[in-house]
Amino acid sequence: MEPRSPGQPAWKWQVLSLLSLCGWGWVSGQIRYSVVEESELGTVVGNVAQDLSLKVADLLGRRLRLGSAESRRYFAVSLASGTLLVNEKIDRESLCGASAGCVLPVQVVIETPLELFRLEVEILDLNDNSPTFPIAQRTVRIAESATVAARFPLESAQDPDVGTNTVSSYRLSPSPYFSLDVKKLKDGKLFPELVLEQALDREDKREHHLVLTAIDGGNPARSGTAQITVVVVDINDNAPVFDQSVYKVSLPENTPVGTLLIQLNATDPDEGPSGEVQYSFAVHTSDSVRKLFDLDPPTGAVRVQGAVDFEEAGFYEIHLRARDRGFPEMEGHCVLQVEVEDVNDNSPEVLLTSLVNPVPENTPLETVVGLFNVRDRDSGANGEVSLGIGSNLPFKIKSFENHYALITRDKLDRESVSQYTIELTARDEGSPSLTTETTILLNISDVNDNPPSFSQTSYNAFLSENSPPGSLLCTVSASDPDEGENSRLTYSIAGSEIEDAPASSFVHINPDNGNVYAQRTFDFELLQVLQIPVAVQDSGSPPHSSNVTVYVFILDQNDNAPVILHPVTGRPVAAPQRIPQSVPAGYLVTKVTAVDADSGHNAWLSYSLLPQSTDPSLFRVAPYTGEIRTARGFQDTDLAAQKIVVLVKDNGDPALSCTVTLMVSLEDKASEENSKSRDFLTNPKEKPDLTLYLIIALVAVSMVSLVTFIVLSAKCLRKGDRHSCCCLSNSPSRDIFKHSSPKLQLNTDGTLKYMEVTLRSTDSQSQCYRTCFSPGSDRSDFTFMRPMSCPPPSALAMETDTFLSGTNTSNESGQVRWHFCPSFLTNDTGVLKRVAYVTEDRAAHGICV
Ligand SMILES: *[C@@H]1O[C@H](CO)[C@@H](O)[C@H](O)[C@H]1NC(C)=O
Ligand SMILES: *[C@@H]1O[C@H](CO)[C@@H](O)[C@H](O)[C@H]1NC(C)=O
Ligand SMILES: *[C@@H]1O[C@H](CO)[C@@H](O)[C@H](O)[C@H]1NC(C)=O
Repeated sequence: MEPRSPGQPAWKWQVLSLLSLCGWGWVSGQIRYSVVEESELGTVVGNVAQDLSLKVADLLGRRLRLGSAESRRYFAVSLASGTLLVNEKIDRESLCGASAGCVLPVQVVIETPLELFRLEVEILDLNDNSPTFPIAQRTVRIAESATVAARFPLESAQDPDVGTNTVSSYRLSPSPYFSLDVKKLKDGKLFPELVLEQALDREDKREHHLVLTAIDGGNPARSGTAQITVVVVDINDNAPVFDQSVYKVSLPENTPVGTLLIQLNATDPDEGPSGEVQYSFAVHTSDSVRKLFDLDPPTGAVRVQGAVDFEEAGFYEIHLRARDRGFPEMEGHCVLQVEVEDVNDNSPEVLLTSLVNPVPENTPLETVVGLFNVRDRDSGANGEVSLGIGSNLPFKIKSFENHYALITRDKLDRESVSQYTIELTARDEGSPSLTTETTILLNISDVNDNPPSFSQTSYNAFLSENSPPGSLLCTVSASDPDEGENSRLTYSIAGSEIEDAPASSFVHINPDNGNVYAQRTFDFELLQVLQIPVAVQDSGSPPHSSNVTVYVFILDQNDNAPVILHPVTGRPVAAPQRIPQSVPAGYLVTKVTAVDADSGHNAWLSYSLLPQSTDPSLFRVAPYTGEIRTARGFQDTDLAAQKIVVLVKDNGDPALSCTVTLMVSLEDKASEENSKSRDFLTNPKEKPDLTLYLIIALVAVSMVSLVTFIVLSAKCLRKGDRHSCCCLSNSPSRDIFKHSSPKLQLNTDGTLKYMEVTLRSTDSQSQCYRTCFSPGSDRSDFTFMRPMSCPPPSALAMETDTFLSGTNTSNESGQVRWHFCPSFLTNDTGVLKRVAYVTEDRAAHGICV
C-alpha cells in the first residue's frame, strides 16, 4: 500500500464538500488522515480546524475535543493550532494485526454548538518488523538415499508487517547439495522448499548446515534467518571393507594354541547395525582350516586353535568375510594367506631297504651290504639329511641322492670280529639339528679261510723200546678259528709210508681226538726216532689242512749186553798175549774194546778185573778205557801164564755185563821183539774191522779237535756270552754235514740224560757222526761223538766241559744263536724242562723234557 501523504488537497476537498452537503447533524467520517505508525509524539496528523472550517480562535470557545477514549489515547488536538497530533506511539501491527488496512476512527466533538465530526486516521504501515522464523534452529532429516530433486518443505518466515513490508523473498546459504525453491501460495504467502541437488552420502558428510534467510520488501529491507541442519540419515549402503584384500601371515609350525595370528579389521562406515561387522569364514572354507584356526566373529581376531604342522600343509588360503547387520546385509571379503614356516621338528628317519645279513667274511672290498633310505619330513635345510657311520668300522657309507649304501671298506674277518654293531647317525641340517641313531647288528658269517694249526710246532713222544703195541704216544691237538664245519677237525697220518713201511704198521691216530698210538714194539737199536707226519684237516669246502711232525723217541732199555770187540774171543781161544818180563809197572799190556748196542748210559761201559784172574794184583784195568796195564814189575815168582778176566759192564739198570778172558804169557827179552812185530803183522788180516774203526776214530778225533778249536775261538769272540756253545756252524766243514733231528735220552726218572744230535754227511760216501750232549751238573758228564750206522760201532767218549757249562742258567727264551748249541732250561727247582737248539738253517727248536 502506498503510504498516503497527509493533507492532499484534492482528496481533502472532496471530503469537505461531502461534509457541507450533509449539513448538520451526525456527520460520518468524511475527513481522513493518515499517519505513519511509530510516529513521534506531537507529529501532526492533520489540521482539523481548517478541514472542519472552524476558526482557530473559536476553537477554545467552542470547546473542541476528541470524542472516544481510544481517540484520545493516540491523538490530541492542539486548540491553539487546530491540528491533530500524535499523542502516543502507534504500532500498527498491535492495533490492526495482519490486516492490510488499519484505520482508526477519531471523533471530534464541538460542544458549543454541539457538533460531531468523524474523522478517520489511517495508520500507515512502517517496515518496523523483520521476518522471523518460528523455529530458528530447524533440523531436517534426509535419508542418504534421497533422490536428486527431492523436495523438502521448510517453514515460512513470518513478518507482522503488511504489504510490501512483509516477507517477500527467501535465500539459502550456498551448498552444492541443496537449492531453494519458493512457492507462492494463493494467499500470496511464500513457501520455501529445499531441493536436493546432489546425492547425499552420510559417510561423506553426515550433516549439512544451511542458513535460510527470509527478506521482506520494506525499504530498507529487513531479514530473518533460520539455521537449518540437514541430517543425512544413514541407510546400509556400505559393505564392510577389509583394510587389505589379501593378508599375508607367516606362522612357525607348532605355534601354541591361542596365539593371535592376525587381527582382521573390516570397517563399515554405516551406522548402527549397518556398521556392526561380524567376521566369519567363507562358506566353502574347509573343515581342516576351521579346526586349525579360530575366528572370533565380533573382533575378527584369528587365533591358532590346532596343531599347525608344516609337514601337513605349508600354506593356507583362508577366505574370510565381514558382514554387517544392516538391511540388507552387506558383506566384504578378504583372503588370509598363512604361510607355515618349517621348524626343525622332525627327526630324520632311516629306512632300511635291504641288508645282507650275515655277510660272508670274504666279501670283497667295496661290496654293498645294505641299502638305506633317509627321510626327513621337514623341508629345506631342516630336511637335508646326512648319514654317518661310526669310525673304526670296516664299513663306509656311500650316498646317491637320498639313498645310501653300506659298503665294505676293509677286509672282514669273522675270527676277529664276528658281529658288528653299526650305528648309523642321520643328522639334518637344521639348527639345532636333529639326529636319529639306528643300530644295525651285522653278523659276519664264516668262510673256511683259516687252516687248522697245531698247538705245537712239533710233538715229542717217548716210548721205551719193547713197549707193547697200543700204548698212547701223545696227543696232537690243533685248533681252527673258523666256525662250524670249517673248524671240525680230522687228524690223520700224512703219507702212507714211514721208513719205507706202511705208516699204519707203526702208529695209529684217532681222527677225532688226535691220540697217537703205537702199533707195534720198537727196538731202540734199530730205530731211535720215528718221524710221523701228522696232518689235520678241517671239514670246510674247500678244506684246509696243516701238518706237524710227531717225533717218537724210542727210549733205550738196557737190553743189550756189552760185546767184546777186542780181543777176539770165541773158539779157539785166542793166542796168549806175550809180554817181556822186564816191563816196568804201568806197561800197556792190551786194551779191551767193547761195544754196547744200547746207547747212552746203557752203552757206557766200565771195565774191571775179576778175581778169577790168575793174579788180580798184577794187572790193573782202566775202568773207562779198558786198557790193561801192569800194576807192578814182574817178579820171578809170578807165573809165566797169566789169565786176566775182565768184566765189561754197562751202566744200565739193571746192568748187563760180559767177561773176557785174556791169556798173557811172560817171556824173556829175546822173544820180545818177535812178538811185537808179529802182533802188528797178524792183526790187519785177522781184524780188518778194528783197523777201519781205528781210522774212523782218528778222523773223529780230528773232527772233534776241529770243533773244539772252533768252540774255543767262538768263546774268545764272545766272552760275555753266558751260553757256552759248540759251534759247528762256524766250521769250514759245515757244508759237509746235514743236521737231522736230535734225540733225547732220558733217565728213568724222566730227567735228561743227554741229547743226541746227528750229523749226516751230504756226501753219502763220508762217515756220519753224532754228537751227544748231556746236561751234566757237577761232575764230568760227557759229550761224545761217535760214528753212526757203521756197525759195529766204536764208542768215543770225550770229556768236553765246554759244551756243557752254563746249562743251569739259561731260563731265557729258547733261542740260541749258535748252531747246534743247546740250551738246557730248567725250572725253579732246577729240574730240566727243555732243551733248545738252533739248527744250521737257523730254525729254532725246542725239545721238552
Ligand atoms: C581398523 O582400521 C581403522 C582405520 O584403518 C582404525 O581406525 C581402527 O582403529 C582399526 N581397528 C582395529 C581394531 O585395528
Ligand atoms: C646274528 O648272530 C646272533 C648271535 O650271534 C644271532 O642271535 C642272530 O640271529 C644272528 N642274526 C642273523 C641275521 O643271522
Ligand atoms: C706239510 O706242510 C708243508 C708246509 O707246511 C708242506 O710243504 C707239505 O707238503 C705238507 N705235507 C703234507 C704231507 O701235507
